[in-house]
Formats: sequence, structure tokens, C-alpha cells
Amino acid sequence: MQDDEEAPQSAGEALVGIVTVSDRASRGDYEDRGGPAIRDHLERVLTSDWAAVGEIVADEQPAIERAIRSLAAQGCCLILTTGGTGPALRDVTPEATEAVCSKLLPGFGEAMRTASLRAVPTAILSRQTAGICDGALVVNLPGQPKAIAECLDAVFAAIPYCIDLVGGPYLETDPAHIRSFRPASATRPGPTHQEATPQ
Ligand code: MTE
Repeated sequence: MQDDEEAPQSAGEALVGIVTVSDRASRGDYEDRGGPAIRDHLERVLTSDWAAVGEIVADEQPAIERAIRSLAAQGCCLILTTGGTGPALRDVTPEATEAVCSKLLPGFGEAMRTASLRAVPTAILSRQTAGICDGALVVNLPGQPKAIAECLDAVFAAIPYCIDLVGGPYLETDPAHIRSFRPASATRPGPTHQEATPQ
């Protein structure tokens, strides 16, 4: 089981928080498309056990801060937000992220914008960032499902080792999709790392 909301966390299972930031989705004016797009992407990429817990909030800084803090307190090692990263008046997800994080990781935003600019010139409009909140890695993603995939692909190789460094669970990825990078000293032997057995 990989995506039940409020799923009980079993031993060794990584909990991933997903925060959809959208006035309209939070009012029920339209269906949340960002949250499911993140879950689908994680289904393809992660091979170690994980479960997701999701929240949908309006574009209000206090509500976004509360959602991130609450997911970190529930033990999420990774919190992915979607939406509210642009220049519009109500886009405040990066401000909320910066307010709750004890350390910022601006390289995530730089890498996502650089990769996204190859796909669309308006990628420069996203102010997406990342940081550490209570031991959880928080990464902002834009709202469009296509942008979510492009941004996650741009940075996911660095996410498992970042989570190691802040004391989280050992995440493993499918190398056919994303080959996560860890220094040799931090890499555990396993099916995705074993050398081929000589015939
Ligand atoms: N990044 C990628 N990869 N693909 C996109 O289509 N859209 C951009 C940008 N980043 C986009 C992208 C646009 S048009 C905007 S306004 C900003 O993300 C902010 O989007 P958000 O407010 O939904 O977070």
C-alpha cells in the first residue's frame, strides 16, 4: 500500500507529506490535480516502502505553515508542496516555507528552474524553494502536473541522501527512473546497488 491518506506508518515505512496549495481546490471548486500527480510520480520512482498523507489548503500563509508543521510533527521525512510559487498576489508558498524552515536549501529551486527553463520560458516565474523543517525536507513544486514531473525529475537524485543527512529513513529509487546519488560510504548494499553476479 503506497498512498492511503492517514495510513498507519509501519516500521521502516517513510511517510511523505503532500500539501496542495490552491484557493479553488480547497473550496472544492475543482478537483485537486497536483496531489495525485505527486503520488503517481512517487509510485514510479520509490522502491522502498512509503505512505502518503495529504492536505489541501488555501493560498494563505498561516494555513500553509500549519500544514507543513503538522506533517513534520507527524513524522514525514519529505513534504512536497504544489502550487502558489508564482508572482501573483496570493502566491505565498515560498514565504510559508521560509518561515517554517530552520535551514534553506536554495539549490533545489535553482536546479528546478534551470531544468524547467528547457521546457517553458515561464519557469522563471516560479519562486520555488526548499528547506528543512523539524527534520523533514520540504520542497516546493509548481501547481501544474507536467511541471511537477519536470521538477521532481530535476532534483530527486539528491533527495534520499538529503533525508539521510537529517536523520530520516533510507529511501531507495528505481534506477530505471531516477538513479539516486549517495557517496559510497553512505550507500547500503541492496538489490539496486549490487554488482551483477558473474555467470
Ligand atoms: N515549471 C515547469 N517545469 N513547467 C511549467 O509549466 N510553469 C511556470 C512555473 N514553473 C511551469 C514551471 C509558471 S507559468 C508559473 S506562473 C510558475 O511556475 C508558478 O506556478 P504555481 O503558481 O502553480 O506554483
